[in-house]
Amino acid sequence: MADPEPVVAQHADDLDTQVADQEESTAAVEDVRESTGPAAPGYDEAEREAVLRVMRERRDIRNGFRSDPIPHEVLLRVLEAAHTAPSVGHSQPWDFVVIRSADTRRSMHELAMRQRDAYAKSLPKGRAKQFKELKIEAILDTPVNIVVTADPTRGGRHTLGRHTQPQMAPYSSALAVENLWLAARAEGLGVGWVSFFDEREMVRELGLPEHLEVVAYLCVGYVDEFPDEPELMQAGWSKRRPLSWVVHEETYGRRALPGEEPHDLLAETVSNIRPLDAKALGEAWERQKRMTKPAGALGMLEIISAQLSGLSRQCPPPIPEPAAVAIFAGDHGVHAQGVTPWPQEVTAQMVANFLGGGAVCNAFANQVGAEVCVIDVGVASDLPATPGLLPRKVRAGTADMTTGPALTREEVKAAIEVGIETARDLVSAGNKALLTGEMGIANTTASAALISVYTGADPAEVTGRGTGINDETLARKTEVVRRALELHQPDPADPIGVLAAIGGLEHAAMVGLLLGGASLRTPVILDGVSAGAAALVARAIAPEVLAACIAGHRSAEPGHVAALNKLGLRPLVDLDLRLGEGTGALLALPVVQSAARAMHEVATFDSAGVTEK
Ligand SMILES: Cc1cc2nc3c(=O)[nH]c(=O)nc-3n(C[C@H](O)[C@H](O)[C@H](O)COP(=O)(O)O)c2cc1C
Repeated sequence: MADPEPVVAQHADDLDTQVADQEESTAAVEDVRESTGPAAPGYDEAEREAVLRVMRERRDIRNGFRSDPIPHEVLLRVLEAAHTAPSVGHSQPWDFVVIRSADTRRSMHELAMRQRDAYAKSLPKGRAKQFKELKIEAILDTPVNIVVTADPTRGGRHTLGRHTQPQMAPYSSALAVENLWLAARAEGLGVGWVSFFDEREMVRELGLPEHLEVVAYLCVGYVDEFPDEPELMQAGWSKRRPLSWVVHEETYGRRALPGEEPHDLLAETVSNIRPLDAKALGEAWERQKRMTKPAGALGMLEIISAQLSGLSRQCPPPIPEPAAVAIFAGDHGVHAQGVTPWPQEVTAQMVANFLGGGAVCNAFANQVGAEVCVIDVGVASDLPATPGLLPRKVRAGTADMTTGPALTREEVKAAIEVGIETARDLVSAGNKALLTGEMGIANTTASAALISVYTGADPAEVTGRGTGINDETLARKTEVVRRALELHQPDPADPIGVLAAIGGLEHAAMVGLLLGGASLRTPVILDGVSAGAAALVARAIAPEVLAACIAGHRSAEPGHVAALNKLGLRPLVDLDLRLGEGTGALLALPVVQSAARAMHEVATFDSAGVTEK
């Protein structure tokens, strides 16, 4: 996010208020300074360490429960800890229903299994495969289950603090759960939270009063061991996000840990991009030679698998599954110049189509098992909140590049940050490959302009027919690109300036996705001409970004060939596609996955006892 504009006093009155506010806050600080006597003591070091240890070592447990009964006094201590939790207006909205009955647990287990099946069906294939291996509850394996409820009516009508935010009641009960969880850990008891329930169905099945909300269903029992890391992390389902990603100083987006200077997200991302690891790369080449196939027989796939090894610093490299395609959507002011017959509204309509599952990208994503993630980084109209849509609009479409800059530098940076954050989210959520996608009526005009700047090619060589325009429109589009370049004279050494002059919001966001993916050592499969344009810009920001880039396909747009040649990337698929939406990248995904899988599964001459040439 860009730094907010500095607050400027507009009127003398405002100034007075500001001065008064300042005096008040200074007075508050001075009050603190004037305090006499020592501050209330904290805990001594050993006690502090014990508190932090229980937080660090608390785990959600689903595996390895024992049937040993829980002594009453132990369970009582745990429930007492839960009951000391903070609550809104001190309303203490929780109740704890302790369930031991095998019959009740069986019926709850049935409900959870039904929800598990429904969830599994909703997953992309790449995820579903992983999910099949996961245990998500231990209802029948634990001697005690505890239902934690919230009573939204407790404390009467005027519960302090709940009148503005009714959700404070279940939040309070969730805090009781955390207390219970920590106390249980200290007792050596494992706790597994199960949320695979329809909440109302659960209330009925358990015969709870209708006015209660179920906040948590917990499986509790002694365990063989507490894993060091979350079970979902161990299974490769998710990754832990670093603290430095989530601490902001004063305003959202100024990320800084206490005692550190705020860091710029783009600069931080670039500083984490490294070239391919030479050792893993060497191991990959060696392994290729020993695999039971003639040397070089896998052609380009050998190069890809070596790249994946160097990128991940592992040989064999992780198989890039699950994968997600990030489709960035934005509109373009240059549309006004008649560069396409398609109306601008089609951008928003196609976003709705992606979210409804009816576009080509959805069909291809289903086929290859990838997740479709749609990001509104700059659609001209307001889009309704829809599951699967990330609302990250930096501005409602760019300005017309033929009459002025398309974007401000701040907007470019904000859009790049959207891309970086998207990469971070998708990788933390366990994706092992990112695919670029985009949607923006008129965006091949911006792509052509960007490619012209970075390849030095004449606009006539890199401007294409996009969605299929006629000769007359192509001539106009080429002239539009030429005029924009003449107006701005973009300097390739200033990539932010280039994007600001002639880029699109989805181009800038894709630049961020590429940089973000590279900084997280995650492969990024590029789609067509717009991704090629973004890769040229990303390379101008951080040349090593190419370590993470794989050209998914070669589009029919002439600019794409120029971009790929300049980048030195060879496309994996060449089928005259010119659709965008990530379709070419999706088709290439199984090729990339096959390259990695071969490294894992193909025997070596020595292991298979095959004689070498
Ligand atoms: C609100 C909430 C609901 C959860 N629901 C489930 C669940 O249905 N099934 C499951 O296996 N784990 C569930 N968990 C556990 C999380 O997966 C777990 O907390 C997370 O992976 C981090 O692991 P850790 O608790 O061991 O640190 C839930 C956790 C919370 C806080």
